[in-house]
Amino acid sequence: MNIKDDVEKLKRKLEHVIADSKMSSELEVQTIYHELSQFIHNCNYYYHTLDKPLVSDRDYDELYHLLKNLEERFLFLDSTHSPTTRVGAKVLSSFNVVKHKLQMLSLSNGFSEEDIKAFDKRLQDLTGISDLQYECEPKLDGLAISIHYQDGKLLYALTRGDGTEGEEVTENVKTIRNVPLVLSGNAPRYVEVRGEIVINKADFLSLNQQSEKKGQKLFANPRNAAAGSIRQLDSKIAAKRPLKLYAYGIGVHEGYAVPNTQYQMMQDVHSWGFQITNEVEVVSGAKGLIAYYNKLSHIRADLPYDIDGLVYKLNEISKQQEAGFIAKAPRWALAHKFPAEEVETEIERVDFQIGRTGAITPVARLKPVAVGGVIVSNATLHNMDEIKRKDVHIGDRVIIRRAGDVIPEVVRPLPQYRRNTTSIVMPENCPVCHSKIEIINDQAVARCTGDWLCKAQTKERIKHFASRKAADIDGLGDKIIEQLVDKELVKLPDDLYQLTLTDLVQLERMARKSSLNLLASIASSKKLDLARFIYAIGIRDIGEVSSKALALHFGSLENIASANFDALISINDIGEVMAKNLIEFWQNQNNQDMVKRLLECGIELINPEVQTVSQIDEDNPFFNKTLVITGSFNDFSRDKLKEKLQSYGAKCVGSVSKKTDMLIAGDKAGSKLEKAQSLNIKIIDERELSVLLNNESK
Ligand code: IVH
Repeated sequence: MNIKDDVEKLKRKLEHVIADSKMSSELEVQTIYHELSQFIHNCNYYYHTLDKPLVSDRDYDELYHLLKNLEERFLFLDSTHSPTTRVGAKVLSSFNVVKHKLQMLSLSNGFSEEDIKAFDKRLQDLTGISDLQYECEPKLDGLAISIHYQDGKLLYALTRGDGTEGEEVTENVKTIRNVPLVLSGNAPRYVEVRGEIVINKADFLSLNQQSEKKGQKLFANPRNAAAGSIRQLDSKIAAKRPLKLYAYGIGVHEGYAVPNTQYQMMQDVHSWGFQITNEVEVVSGAKGLIAYYNKLSHIRADLPYDIDGLVYKLNEISKQQEAGFIAKAPRWALAHKFPAEEVETEIERVDFQIGRTGAITPVARLKPVAVGGVIVSNATLHNMDEIKRKDVHIGDRVIIRRAGDVIPEVVRPLPQYRRNTTSIVMPENCPVCHSKIEIINDQAVARCTGDWLCKAQTKERIKHFASRKAADIDGLGDKIIEQLVDKELVKLPDDLYQLTLTDLVQLERMARKSSLNLLASIASSKKLDLARFIYAIGIRDIGEVSSKALALHFGSLENIASANFDALISINDIGEVMAKNLIEFWQNQNNQDMVKRLLECGIELINPEVQTVSQIDEDNPFFNKTLVITGSFNDFSRDKLKEKLQSYGAKCVGSVSKKTDMLIAGDKAGSKLEKAQSLNIKIIDERELSVLLNNESK
């Protein structure tokens, strides 16, 4: 029998039940309801997952209305997994945070052919097999989701969150048309399917066109649109967004007979009704991986979704288990990231931005252009030496590059198109405060000499003062600081402590309640660790580590301010330039006044116990070691961990090199982990770290 006949038969049965509702038994109604909802689930599957409609739109609409009709008429029917729930349900007030039954891991990254060869070589060494098979997939650029099913029915869905716990977004996930609400095939009694929620490129364009018509804000890229949609408290809004799920894995729970290969696992997921990408392939060795990379790079632009790389997984599951995990990423998988995207555009103008220390950065204002899914209209030109070296002019056609979330930069001009261009000239005076710009000859840097008289510098200095590692004033965001400085309510940091409710409520987007909260957090920032205070006052080149070293060594502000050059450089973390800057800072009357005023307005410094190196147990495994911390940790913030390791006499630096003794790798460790592996540097994950720290603190 063909589908058309099926549809007709179903309709007739339904008309009978609906017309004669009193005559039908509960069982009869339930049976036909079940048959109809299965049929519509199947139509959805064919339409949204296979892209092959099973019935005409008209028949679909008719059957859908009959289903709704049944649900409205017979209230005993259980419609929790009905196709009618796809339109969204009640509005939530917040999302519940729920612990993942199985952690959601991240992936190590690779960037080059060498990285791929090293990955394959490591696994060859680990497994003792020279010809390894890999299952390859695109790395979708959306957001990760974990969906739980019990007895074939969707139970709940969680975002990845920090990998340990995520937000429960079940109502929104149920609206995604290609997510099965009820599993088909031979699904286990309990199963967790993982995948990426995305918005396809074409759907994204029409979504933005609609928003534009309605005068609404446009989304920057498909990933932001997908993530924003999943975080809607009103699932009716999520239901209107063209979200899609591509499954890429299974959280294995009891009752699932794990197949031999990753590839077969993907086929299992597919057989239960999930969509997987069309690009899944199994290849052999590094050569196969590189060929897959070349092939996918070629067709990347034609894929329906955005990808930011590829994922390679050891195909044989038993070998995956042998390879195990490091720092919450499997050793058996690798994300091969695509290089930063480069595009052409034009420099319309160059502005000069003034930083906290007065340093001036030339910024190119560009003819807006899409790079990696975002519209870019500014790019840094770094400094005048770089402009000279690259020979960039205003009006030039240029290549710009954007990698991840870093600021885009101008890579090089295309001089062949040059016509009517003008040179970029550093102004003699600051564009904001008109003070003289000082060019330091042997440095590439130009500086505005306006200090606290320059509003641009003041804004950046106050932002620094209030920042998390400094005075940590919660609620004092950049936009508020900019208004406070523009209105001349704040000229120096101590002015923050004189602000009143009247001052704050006149600012944009500051209601009475948020103003009161801000006043409270300003007041509570008055108790301040000496190290934070030193960092907050922004002495040139004195960062967080050196501030801490100064506080621990000298124990009081007076001692730091009166220390001479020799005393300063005797400290491990203080070099000659820093010592010189410190001395110059305290000699400057303006700085002395600023510090005096801060103390007069009630800042209360908490001095640390002076710590000399001899107080540290020199036998501890971190003593005198150069460490790099990367990724995130369950039990520590990165800052707290750094503080702790420093108290053991370790030196914590930012990047991995041959001189690094140890890498402390948390969750989502990326390129630093790869680099440490390639340099054979000792790697410690959070579990080993806790053991070492506990042993030491006993
Ligand atoms: S597998 C243990 N496969 O990339 C491996 N992840 O850092 C777990 N992603 O947050 C991930 N496409 O959301 C895997 N084909 C794919 C993927 C993929 C995108 C995302 C995933 C995760 C991140 C890994």
